[in-house]
Amino acid sequence: MFPNAPLYPGPPMQRGGHMPGVRKKGIAFCVMMMLNVVIFLLIGLAWNVRRSQSGRQRVRVPSRRFWRPDVASQSFWNKEQQHLDFLHNPVFAAALAATPPGELPDWLNDTGPPDPCEPDYRVPTQILDYNVLPRLFQDFLLHMRCRRYPLLIDPPRVCEATPFLLLAVKSLTPHFDRRQAIRETWGRAGVVANRTVAVVFLLGSTFGGDHFPDLRGLLRQEARIHKDVLLWRYRDTFFNLTLKDVLFLEWFGRRCPHARYVLKGDDDVLVNTPRVLDFLENVSESRTKDLFVGDVISDAAPHRDKKLKYFIPESVFVGRYPPYAGGGGYLLSGDLALRLSEASRRVVLYPIDDVYTGMCLQKLGLAPQGHRGFRTFDIEDRDRDRPCIYRNLMLVHSRTPQEMLAIWPWVRDPELDCQ
Ligand SMILES: *[C@@H]1O[C@H](CO)[C@@H](O)[C@H](O)[C@H]1NC(C)=O
Ligand SMILES: *[C@@H]1O[C@H](CO)[C@@H](O)[C@H](O)[C@H]1NC(C)=O
Ligand SMILES: *[C@@H]1O[C@H](CO)[C@@H](O)[C@H](O)[C@H]1NC(C)=O
Ligand SMILES: *[C@@H]1O[C@H](CO)[C@@H](O)[C@H](O)[C@H]1NC(C)=O
Repeated sequence: MFPNAPLYPGPPMQRGGHMPGVRKKGIAFCVMMMLNVVIFLLIGLAWNVRRSQSGRQRVRVPSRRFWRPDVASQSFWNKEQQHLDFLHNPVFAAALAATPPGELPDWLNDTGPPDPCEPDYRVPTQILDYNVLPRLFQDFLLHMRCRRYPLLIDPPRVCEATPFLLLAVKSLTPHFDRRQAIRETWGRAGVVANRTVAVVFLLGSTFGGDHFPDLRGLLRQEARIHKDVLLWRYRDTFFNLTLKDVLFLEWFGRRCPHARYVLKGDDDVLVNTPRVLDFLENVSESRTKDLFVGDVISDAAPHRDKKLKYFIPESVFVGRYPPYAGGGGYLLSGDLALRLSEASRRVVLYPIDDVYTGMCLQKLGLAPQGHRGFRTFDIEDRDRDRPCIYRNLMLVHSRTPQEMLAIWPWVRDPELDCQ
């Protein structure tokens, strides 16, 4: 059924897994994309030509328009992305500015609300099956353009001693025990193996409207004690994880831009921090700049089955996914994190966070590198309780807080003979 199914044991779709597809479609898609590029170029040409006709120089002019009104994709995300690509292309942007209103092809006219944080009223009419989409997916689409949310808790001193490695852990407000287990094990901040390690937990808000108990007081208390909690005021749900990525990168650029490396992970992974540091010691200066390693998923495409967590309708996105690292955890350089933040402005938010990061990498002309030490699909059952197995892993998903505390001494114990 899945001819190029990934190498992972167990259920392949567990986290961030997406259907590998048929290569022919890939080729067809590439051809389509190239056609699109050609058409874009022609549009630009047509405009420039028209501009120069009305203005100073004269150019030999093709006598009719090259573009057709139906160039645009019918899928909402793709359409938004085409628009953004256009705006960020300096040649076209100039052409756009010089084009008299009314002469724009419809698909280039941005008819969205002027304030990107207003619900996007176009969505229900532009997406044919909007009304039958899952509620949270509808919410994602309505707020897809908004990227600014207030930061309610912002510990000022996390990066005071410039970290060699910043551990950025995606968590949810109620997961107090997971955060504490991480602080007591792999996320202990301070000097590890003669390197400065810092940790932050990334949280959105939980609201009574979603039937969450009021945990704000407890969270403030926790933040006061540990000074490692970042809290934004947006609704913390699965489809808003991409927002968490984007907001974190923005914070990173302001607060921690000199950290050498960043490990981004979920609060249910176990990280072998000493092993990660050891790995980083060996990364050459030249490789550091573009370093991005994790558990890489290649040649994937969106799921079209409504019952799956990762379902994406064709009315929203068509195309294949770029290679991406499973969002359970990956490691990148601080330098690349800063550039990713820039690149993310040029990529429309996508509801699956790790795919989105892959898209941003692609914008930079990069791809993640696979590393066997990252096991976001876990290791084999029979290995789970074998202490020596953990010695050579960098990251494994998933472990409960109690499992973390049980396994951690195995990672650290110098007496353990693993020959
Ligand atoms: C863009 O669309 C809006 C609403 O449909 C319309 O009022 C406006 O004239 C259009 N602008 C251009 C430049 O075509
Ligand atoms: C510890 O790190 C510092 C600076 O990073 C370095 O100068 C020093 O030699 C290191 N010490 C050891 C024992 O590796
Ligand atoms: C994402 O957060 C915004 C701001 O709180 C919220 O309006 C929207 O409903 C959230 N989206 C999802 C899919 O939960
Ligand atoms: C790093 O390099 C040292 C010395 O070459 C080697 O002993 C060690 O195994 C390497 N560590 C990793 C994680 O590759």
